[in-house]
Amino acid sequence: MKNLTGMEEILSQLQSLKGELNASIFKSIEEKKKTLEKVCKAVSTIEQKSEGTIYEKILRQYIKDLLGLDDSNPKFKFRPSTIFITGGNGGIGAGLAKSYAVEKTTKTLILTGRNEKKLEKTKKELLKLNGKLIIITKNLNVRNKEAMLNFINETDKKYPIDMVVANAGIGFAQASNSKTKFKSEFVHCQEAILETNMVGVLNTILPVLDIFKTNKRQGQVVLISSSAAYLPVRYGTYGASKTFVKNYGKFLRRVLAKESIYVNVVTPDCIDTDISIPYKKMGMVFPDELELDDCIERMRKGLDENRGVVAMPMWQSVDNIIKGSIPVKSQFKEGDFHV
Ligand SMILES: NC(=O)c1ccc[n+]([C@@H]2O[C@H](COP(=O)([O-])OP(=O)(O)OC[C@H]3O[C@@H](n4cnc5c(N)ncnc54)[C@H](OP(=O)(O)O)[C@@H]3O)[C@@H](O)[C@H]2O)c1
Repeated sequence: MKNLTGMEEILSQLQSLKGELNASIFKSIEEKKKTLEKVCKAVSTIEQKSEGTIYEKILRQYIKDLLGLDDSNPKFKFRPSTIFITGGNGGIGAGLAKSYAVEKTTKTLILTGRNEKKLEKTKKELLKLNGKLIIITKNLNVRNKEAMLNFINETDKKYPIDMVVANAGIGFAQASNSKTKFKSEFVHCQEAILETNMVGVLNTILPVLDIFKTNKRQGQVVLISSSAAYLPVRYGTYGASKTFVKNYGKFLRRVLAKESIYVNVVTPDCIDTDISIPYKKMGMVFPDELELDDCIERMRKGLDENRGVVAMPMWQSVDNIIKGSIPVKSQFKEGDFHV
């Protein structure tokens, strides 16, 4: 028991209650209550001995993560030259492209999306910012695995990618084919969200990671998640898809660091882009909405420091972490959630 932190001691105590906890499913309500008391007693005994409560310790770790206290490097030197951004024709994707367009180190921007007009418009705006840039645009759906693989492999032969931003994503409103049938399209919408926000992210980053690893190439991989990732119980399929992105990104960061592949997860809250227009039309208000430029400035700061998690505005992720760690029943009123 020597040198154990409060958390480790609790886990060790829980280990001694393992058999009782596992068997509790077959036990009476009275016996289950006794088991609950034993667990709580173990936690409170240890909490009295340790500085701060265990909940506080866990929260502290999450917030440390958001602040980048353990997981950022202000002296990080890597700056990408060829950047591939999905959903680069609008909102956060185009905003990020513009911020990199004015960097001396940036030579090539590769932008994909499904709307040709928006791709052309963004390309013109980028060339105005920097006429020397090579800009590749492609009408490409992230859900199309084969087309994504072919495009990435072909483009990389001419313009070796060293940063990929898996940004393309949709909410329930974008998944819906028709505004009038909003509710009746439930299954279709869930599939569209998961295929775009989860499978689309894999279709984007896995071919690039394959190239990075095969060529032993240094590179940066950015996954756009959401503050909703910390509170999926509030944000249904969208929140669940973003939780996947956040957790998978954190896993990749851990396993790829030794290969000089830097993985960053971004968790924005409400940012003023097209994604929220349908919700605003429905009367929803976003009092803490962040201007796009503000979001991009914060995002660049985090990416330039190679932070594990880049959250903006940070408060919202903290708020969601706290809400996400208390039981569902005490958080919401009936009907108070999105799908
Ligand atoms: N804005 C926010 O409040 C907020 C908050 C948290 C997280 N996020 C995340 O940030 C990312 C960017 O969103 P945004 O706010 O910039 O919204 P946006 O302006 O609607 O941009 C979404 C981009 O994704 C592209 N896209 C959507 N589905 C696609 C598909 N199947 N294939 C290829 N491209 C596709 C869109 O282009 P096309 O329509 O031309 O395909 C568009 O460029 C998303 O992952 C979103 O979930 C946004």
